[in-house]
Amino acid sequence: MEHAQLQLNAKYDVVIVGAGVAGLSLALHLPEDCRALVICKGGLEESDSFLAQGGICVLHDKNDFRSYYEDTMRAGHFENNPATVKCMIEHSRETIDELLSLGVRFAMENGALAYTREGAHSRPRIVFHEDCTGKEITSHLLAHALKRTNLTVRPYTTMLDILTDNGSCCGVVLKDNKSGEIFPVRAGNTVLATGGVGGLFRHSTNFRILTGDGLAVSLRHGVAVDHADYIQFHPTTLYTKGRGRRFLLSESLRGEGAHLINKKGERFVDELLPRDVVTEAIYREMQKEGSDFVRIDLRPVGEETLLSHFPTIVNRCKKEGYDALKDPVPVLPSQHYFMGGVRSDLFGRTTMPHLYAVGETCCNGVHGRNRLASNSLLEAIIFAKRAAEDIAKGTSAEGEPQFNAELYSDRRYMKNNRQTVLKEINRENK
Ligand code: SIN
Repeated sequence: MEHAQLQLNAKYDVVIVGAGVAGLSLALHLPEDCRALVICKGGLEESDSFLAQGGICVLHDKNDFRSYYEDTMRAGHFENNPATVKCMIEHSRETIDELLSLGVRFAMENGALAYTREGAHSRPRIVFHEDCTGKEITSHLLAHALKRTNLTVRPYTTMLDILTDNGSCCGVVLKDNKSGEIFPVRAGNTVLATGGVGGLFRHSTNFRILTGDGLAVSLRHGVAVDHADYIQFHPTTLYTKGRGRRFLLSESLRGEGAHLINKKGERFVDELLPRDVVTEAIYREMQKEGSDFVRIDLRPVGEETLLSHFPTIVNRCKKEGYDALKDPVPVLPSQHYFMGGVRSDLFGRTTMPHLYAVGETCCNGVHGRNRLASNSLLEAIIFAKRAAEDIAKGTSAEGEPQFNAELYSDRRYMKNNRQTVLKEINRENK
């Protein structure tokens, strides 16, 4: 009861919904006198940021700008927002330097950063930590966030709704997943960093808890949402008969030389074309062959690189009964990333005052119709930092939001949220 009382009276300068790289990066860039609450729906390691394998892009050198820009735009079918793409590329090098200063380890070669390559990149410009770059980055951000005295990090807490007053966002309605208690938390500024929508799909690389909660509340409150049908399928996820999250076989495997082959052992697509093109080619091949999967042959990558750069993948394949060092492994495309989302500008601002959206939840146009590989962590970190700076400079929401607990205790409430998001995806898809 004492705990509940405390929560009912809670008021923070900022509430951040989501503890992936976007939410954590925003939290860490807030001034240290700014009291912020960071919540997440599952455990602290249940964000897709932890699952990112391939790496994080960076402008290789100043002569690389045009080529990086064009690769991003071409992969996105030129539907990208040029301003956000430029901003991301311009700030990429300082972002990597900042991560290094926080203790993040990237692979090195002869004393300098090593670069790998993925589909649709015209040159290697991706820095990485083995095949678990997301885990390396996110765990460092999390460790730093947990040390900050101005930040309260609360796992197993679901955002049910945002609180509004006079058209402004002034907090959130939260549910303690363990006790079931529902309570409002007021905030000067609220940030949606709830990740993507993979949990709504039968086969996805995403955590099942990621069901577009930020999108659902935005749709309910008339906050603009763009391109809800821009869903990315990753070409190569491990084929398994079981249900649940699909395991990724990083695109950097293909960047390092892995081949996609059909039943006859023949290659049928240029493996380094953009993700959507490779995905389509795989579906066509599966249909032609009447097969549930194609295969990826990792042997051209070489045993030494497989063991040093891709240990997680090799071990996981082994667990599933495949010796990736000796035999091709069955793969198929699965839902992976959401390019649409809550409309946001260069500072993460949505169309509702005091409501921000960052990371996969937002659509600032940087990815266009199809995201270039390894741009997601970079985009999330950069625009979250910009949102934090904007929050620090700006004003706070005032107001006395209404809160009706009964509305949220109905079991159908979350189901309705999911249906709202699915309806929007299907509506845009027509
Ligand atoms: C991968 O390693 O293939 C995934 C990286 C990404 O989604 O950009």
